[in-house]
Order: sequence, then structure tokens, then C-alpha cells
Amino acid sequence: MAAWSGDARESEGDRQEREHFWRVVNAFRYYRAYALERVRRAERELRALPPAHRRLLREAALPGHLQCVRARVEHNQLLHDIILGTAEHMFENKRYRPLNLEAEPTPATAFDMDKLKSTLKQLVRDWSSEGQGERDSCYRPILNAVQTYLGAASGDSGSSIKSNGDSCCDGHSSNGSNNSDGCHQNHRHQQHPQQENEQQQQQNEQQLNEQQKNNHKQQQKSPRVLVPGSGLGRLAWEITRLGYSCQGNEFSLFMLFTSHYILNRCHEVDSVRLYPWVLQFSNTRRAWDRVRPVLVPDVDPSALPPGADFSMSAGDFLEVYSLDVDVWDCVATCFFLDTAHNVIAYIELIWQVLKPGGVWINMGPLLYHFENMVGESSLELSYDQIRQVIVQVGFVFEEENECVHATYTENERSMLRYIYDCVFFVVRKPALKSECS
Ligand SMILES: C[S@@+](CC[C@H](N)C(=O)[O-])C[C@H]1O[C@@H](n2cnc3c(N)ncnc32)[C@H](O)[C@@H]1O
Repeated sequence: MAAWSGDARESEGDRQEREHFWRVVNAFRYYRAYALERVRRAERELRALPPAHRRLLREAALPGHLQCVRARVEHNQLLHDIILGTAEHMFENKRYRPLNLEAEPTPATAFDMDKLKSTLKQLVRDWSSEGQGERDSCYRPILNAVQTYLGAASGDSGSSIKSNGDSCCDGHSSNGSNNSDGCHQNHRHQQHPQQENEQQQQQNEQQLNEQQKNNHKQQQKSPRVLVPGSGLGRLAWEITRLGYSCQGNEFSLFMLFTSHYILNRCHEVDSVRLYPWVLQFSNTRRAWDRVRPVLVPDVDPSALPPGADFSMSAGDFLEVYSLDVDVWDCVATCFFLDTAHNVIAYIELIWQVLKPGGVWINMGPLLYHFENMVGESSLELSYDQIRQVIVQVGFVFEEENECVHATYTENERSMLRYIYDCVFFVVRKPALKSECS
């Protein structure tokens, strides 16, 4: 029998990974306590007001609104619990003890709670109708470039037949080693169980075998696209939907838990309700805007073309792909370059993993994630410096636009909205001379 993670035989790396896993689980569970404390603060402020001020506010309205906020917080917590419920079996090569959702969570760090709140907003960006405009600005140019530079994919992108539940996408296993999160995840697209008679079952099995053969042939033909820092997976999913073979890579367990839930457990359009803006107290135009629901997913995530080759790998891009040489036809990065401690290391690895003739498509700003973090190294290169590195490494520019307006997890009703002037480019790793001739 496989050992539970956490037994006496585990290595130091495994121990750290297990502790990290439980820290993130705890943060998901701590949401209610954290959020309700914020509501209590608002209630205290209200009670402390002089009676005359309370009357001006039409006293009844505000406590009623805060009650509504409380109810939304409870709902978000239920969603977090459901996501967690699917997390314990998500890694093929890892087993954790069954989650105990009864035990009291301990206070989580402000950093982790920020990550959790961002994950709710990321659901809006990636999987809601409300996020469509944002996806059009960020993902559409990348998807267009994938089609332009990789050519037509072999997949049947128009079909909505579900992929076979067991034709699980081939996970990334180039080095077999663990990474910072030390985990490795494959997404499976599950079929809805259906009532079938025996004859139907036989027919279905035959069809399935045929389909698997076709799938295999198709997977061998489709250009392979890698999406590092894939967040909740929508861009990688869209690339797969176009018929390419695609792997998303992500190292945040907040993202991985949530994408696993959306990609594998949510089949019905708009079946999941969340309240991503409920803790946004500033810049609210109408009180209702704060407590309004958002529905996800806007599409059925399991509706990929037959033979779709879609997978997610978990872990640090720099570690997971360190042994890949000339493997990928395309690397697509979206709002990712600035997550690096040292962006040059990202550029070098992208060069290494790309096949000669392969392309790197990038979209994003340079909001360096580690810039102000104590104890973290951070190299904040300007775009012209990055551009020079890209050219020095050997890439050739095919396309470049230094001013593409895009938003990131925007609340469309907020009075504060950021617009990024992103850089979009496509660069090519030149084909080997012998391949050209
Ligand atoms: C700003 S988000 C962008 C997510 C997605 N590409 C999008 O456009 O919505 C950056 C993502 O990269 C992930 N990330 C950061 N550094 C990473 C690394 N070294 N390896 C893998 N993922 C990483 C983060 O966890 C985060 O989900």
C-alpha cells in the first residue's frame, strides 16, 4: 500500500511540500473567520457613530447590507470547502491524509489571504462571462498568434464532444524531479455517468477504441504549446480547444486547487456562484455592486475536441522544465515574465525548451512581483533591456507591439480601474541551418 505523505520515510523536500500543502488548505478554511472579522470592524464603526449621523445614513440600510455581506462570505466559504474537497486526490503522484474539515483552522497570514481573494477574482477573469472582455484583450492576441505561427491544428476545434475520461493527458515528466511545490498534476476530463444498455455499451466501447486510436495519431501530429504560469488554465484550455496539444504549468496551490475543481468537476455552464468583490470596501459605487454574484464557468470545461491533449503540470517553471531541450513548438506567456526573480533565467529556459524554429508569444506588463518583498531577490529590467537579452540569446523578432491595453482581474463596477500598457511580441528561435536547406 502506498505510504501517506507525512510518514517516517519522507524526505526533507517532501516534508516542506506537505507543510505548504496544509498551509494553503488552512488558508482556504480560514476565509470565513478572516472575512467576518472585516465585517465586524465595519459594524463596530457603524455602532460608534453619533446617533445623528446614523439617522442621516438611514440606520436600517447599512446593518442590512452588512448582513448581506455576511451571507455572501458564508457562501464563499462553502465554495472554498467544495474546492478543498476535490483537492486531496488531485495529484497523481501524491497522497495526503483525508482532509478534516471539522477542525478549527488557525489564523492564516495576510499574504495567504490575499492570494485566496485573488484566486476568486481570477475565476472571474478566466471562467465567467464577465471576464470575456478581459480575455479578449489578453488571450485573444495570443490565440491569434498561435494560429498564425503554428498553422492549422490537426484537432477538430469545432466539436464539442467530450474527451474520453481515461485518455488522460500525458503529464509532464521530463525530469521526474519535484519542484518548489513538489507536485505534479494531470487534468482528466471526466464524462458524466450515463444510463446505458449492454448493446449501447459495446458500441460505445468500440467507438471509444477508435477514438483513442485517432486521438493518439492526432496527438502525435499536433504542435505542442507550453503555457508557464497558467493561473486557472483558461488560456491553455483555449489553445487546446483550437486543436493544439497544450500543457499549462503553475506553481501556486491556490490556483492549482481551484483550476482542478473548475476543469474536472464543473460541467454545467454558470452552475457555480461566487461573490468575488464582497470584501472590496473602497471604491464601491453602489452597495449592491459589492455583493453581486458572478457565475462560472461560462463554458463547459470538459467540452474539448475529441483527442484533445490538455494537461497541467504543478511546480516552478524553472525546475519542472529544466531538462527539456528542443521539446516545444511554442511557449505562450501571459502576465508571467514579471513573476521572475531573474527574468533572464526565464528567457534562457524558454530558448532551451523551444524546438529550433519554435516561437515564443508573450503578452504582459512588467509589474515585478518580488520588487518590494523583504528577503527576496528581484531584478527589475526595463522592456528595452529585456528586449536586448532576447536578441542576444538568439531570438528573432517576428512581431512586436509595445502598447496593448489590457486589464487584470478587473472589477468592472469599481471606481478604481487599472489599465496596463502591455508588451506583446512573437519571437522565433531560428531553425537549424540543416533544417532550412
Ligand atoms: C499574474 S499571474 C498570470 C496568470 C495567467 N497567465 C493569466 O494571464 O491570467 C502569474 C501566474 O504565474 C504563476 N507563477 C509565478 N511564478 C511561477 C513559476 N516560477 N512557475 C510556475 N508558475 C509561476 C503564479 O502563481 C500566477 O498564477
